[in-house]
Amino acid sequence: MSGVQRSVAAHGPTRRKPHVVLRRMLDAVSEDALPGDPVAQLERRLADLLGKPRALFFPSGTMAQQVALRIHAERTGRPAFAAHPTNHLDLWEQRGYAVVHGLRFQPAGDPERMLTRDDLDEVKEPVGALLIELPQREIGGFLPEWDELTAQVAWARDRGAAAHLDGARLWESQPFYDRPHAEIAGLFDTVYVSLYKGLEGVRGAVLAGDEATMDHAEVWRQRLGGAIPDAWPFAIAAMVGLDEVLPRMAAFRDHAVAVAKALTSAGVADVLPDPPHTAMFHIRLPVPAAAAEAASTAIVEELGVLVFRRVGAESWPDRCRVELTIGENGMEFAPDEIAALFADVVSRALR
Ligand SMILES: Cc1ncc(COP(=O)(O)O)c(C=O)c1O
Repeated sequence: MSGVQRSVAAHGPTRRKPHVVLRRMLDAVSEDALPGDPVAQLERRLADLLGKPRALFFPSGTMAQQVALRIHAERTGRPAFAAHPTNHLDLWEQRGYAVVHGLRFQPAGDPERMLTRDDLDEVKEPVGALLIELPQREIGGFLPEWDELTAQVAWARDRGAAAHLDGARLWESQPFYDRPHAEIAGLFDTVYVSLYKGLEGVRGAVLAGDEATMDHAEVWRQRLGGAIPDAWPFAIAAMVGLDEVLPRMAAFRDHAVAVAKALTSAGVADVLPDPPHTAMFHIRLPVPAAAAEAASTAIVEELGVLVFRRVGAESWPDRCRVELTIGENGMEFAPDEIAALFADVVSRALR
């Protein structure tokens, strides 16, 4: 998107311009901070951070998670996995788990609200794995309380199934639990984390687990064309993120909470969850999606500010919801400034 000078949304084009990304990567390597193979270094670093014996680079989370679920299915002899209806694999991956890997999806819980331990009682087919996404992005970025989370994992274990974490936003979830990453990851047999979302890297993912599972995953990575020999740019960008962005996750979350408060107290919008659990949350605007999009485009053209990137329709035709993630971009705006920008979106959309 051209014309964007400032972006409230994380991943707005301002920080993703190739020369900006390359300059940050160059700073990281030029100081001799990265001797050796960056991919191997990243894998070691993430294995340690997540408390797993081994971590394996993948070009995408899509590939990593399908591989993880396939391995759990092969090991248990059960091709089904249980997950919330809005999980990324079923919603956004053209059902690759079924078409490519022959797996079956057993939905548990209500698409509009967070998965609970009781919802899992609906799953009648024996499953090879339970997939839990932290936070649940599609419904606003909700996180279950720790006891609820451990109860869900215990449900899987009690049935001989593996527990897999879709940790696309594990980095953003950690301040909510206020426990080390390894303790959260330690609940699960396999953990996928993203190298580009919260870490603001280029692309890529890492799958972590025990040695045998990762050996197996390496075979599938090669079969699927994911064994990229020169993946070092992804790794360096991710390590820049680990050094510079990861330590700021609690500050991002706190800013998100302040932004949500500014939005609700100004009567501009509702937020989900209220208050936000992570730096990512949803904002419900009292205008149709197409009108909000048109208003956002006009604001980029006139003010050079990208307010949000993703807009979705709500059940009511005159309402929509947008996803907002506070990262380095969003920290440059005061909460009241963000509330004023959303008020501008609404008033333009109502014109
Ligand atoms: C919750 C969740 N899981 C998995 C993925 C897949 O990650 P990738 O884009 O690396 O394939 C995404 C991407 O948006 C996601 O939001």
